[in-house]
Amino acid sequence: MPEKTNVAIIGCGWAGLRHAVAYRSCGANVLWAVDVDKRRASAIARSYPDTHVVQDVRVALEDPAIDAVSICLPTHMHSDTAIMAVQAGKHVLCEEPMATTLEDADAMVAAAAGAGVTLMTGANVRYSPLYRNMSDLVQEGVIGQPVLVRLNRETYIPGASPDDKRWESEFPDSKDGVMMSGGIHDFEMMRMVVGEITSVHAVKAPQRLHDMRSDDTSIATLRFANGALGMLVESCTSRRLETVSGKEVHTLRIDGELGSLYSPDPRSLQLYTTREDYLVDGRATRKDIHIPESDTFLLEVLHFLKCLHTGQEPNTSGRSQRRSLELVLAAYRSMDTGVPEDVSYAAALD
Ligand SMILES: NC(=O)c1ccc[n+]([C@@H]2O[C@H](COP(=O)([O-])OP(=O)(O)OC[C@H]3O[C@@H](n4cnc5c(N)ncnc54)[C@H](O)[C@@H]3O)[C@@H](O)[C@H]2O)c1
Repeated sequence: MPEKTNVAIIGCGWAGLRHAVAYRSCGANVLWAVDVDKRRASAIARSYPDTHVVQDVRVALEDPAIDAVSICLPTHMHSDTAIMAVQAGKHVLCEEPMATTLEDADAMVAAAAGAGVTLMTGANVRYSPLYRNMSDLVQEGVIGQPVLVRLNRETYIPGASPDDKRWESEFPDSKDGVMMSGGIHDFEMMRMVVGEITSVHAVKAPQRLHDMRSDDTSIATLRFANGALGMLVESCTSRRLETVSGKEVHTLRIDGELGSLYSPDPRSLQLYTTREDYLVDGRATRKDIHIPESDTFLLEVLHFLKCLHTGQEPNTSGRSQRRSLELVLAAYRSMDTGVPEDVSYAAALD
């Protein structure tokens, strides 16, 4: 691997732009910006004479100078493109969800192993200082054994999905809703902070955004291997001041036997615990922990580049991230059947 990694960004929309910024901040060369929509690729290349724009992914994959690619295409295109890329000898950082079926995810993992290249997924929550902090506190037993976990992800999309997101309604099997796009990150985060999940029971609300073929509001109730219960709420139809102003509201609360942890936003964490070594003058008080602003795409890309240079397996390898996809797909099966899905076989793998 050369000192300066040469990369191609495949898919130059919302996520592609963030990957490009992150690579440049890490000192990597973005040699190709690939998008069927030339304007989007040009937006990434603007002011960077070394970045070439192309509409056909094969041009970038045939370039021997390219070491690695970031796949930021619509989700249903990830698996075919990732397999083409690894067969061309390129390391791959693939956005989440890595695929829409477990078969596709497995084919990606096998193709990368066969080609001897790295396949990492963009499960950026794993690199978030907030969730790492929460995970450490839970591991250290600061709130005791977790009992109840509540996670909300809420946005507001007025009326219908925007035109440039029509791909969200092009998944072959309609598992294209909020439980897939947001839930994949939230299952991952809960596994990281609380532990493995053994049962998923999900329901969806009647469809309000008719351009989305699948759920626009859904809930999953969960059971964890450590006995905790969880509730995951995903919605892109939430009308509140923050969401109608375009913000995503993302909150996580964990109640344990000794106290609780609550994150009202990505920069703050509230800890209340009755554990003896945390008492102040013999009393339990709330501790507000400020989490410095961070770019999880940058932290993820830094880790990817480090793994390419050291040969280390990424923390979010394709092999490990298959599991969160498995849980999301279990949630969709449960929505169809109306009964909980036993996913304890996944917990046993840990
Ligand atoms: N990790 C995260 O937090 C996060 C956040 C947002 C999106 N994502 C994921 O990133 C992926 C992309 O999402 P997005 O929001 O950036 O979507 P987007 O629609 O903004 O971007 C997708 C781009 O792919 C391009 N494209 C479509 N078909 C193509 C083809 N055949 N060849 C080349 N380009 C093509 C489109 O023109 C578009 O510019 C999705 O899988 C999504 O789930 C992850």
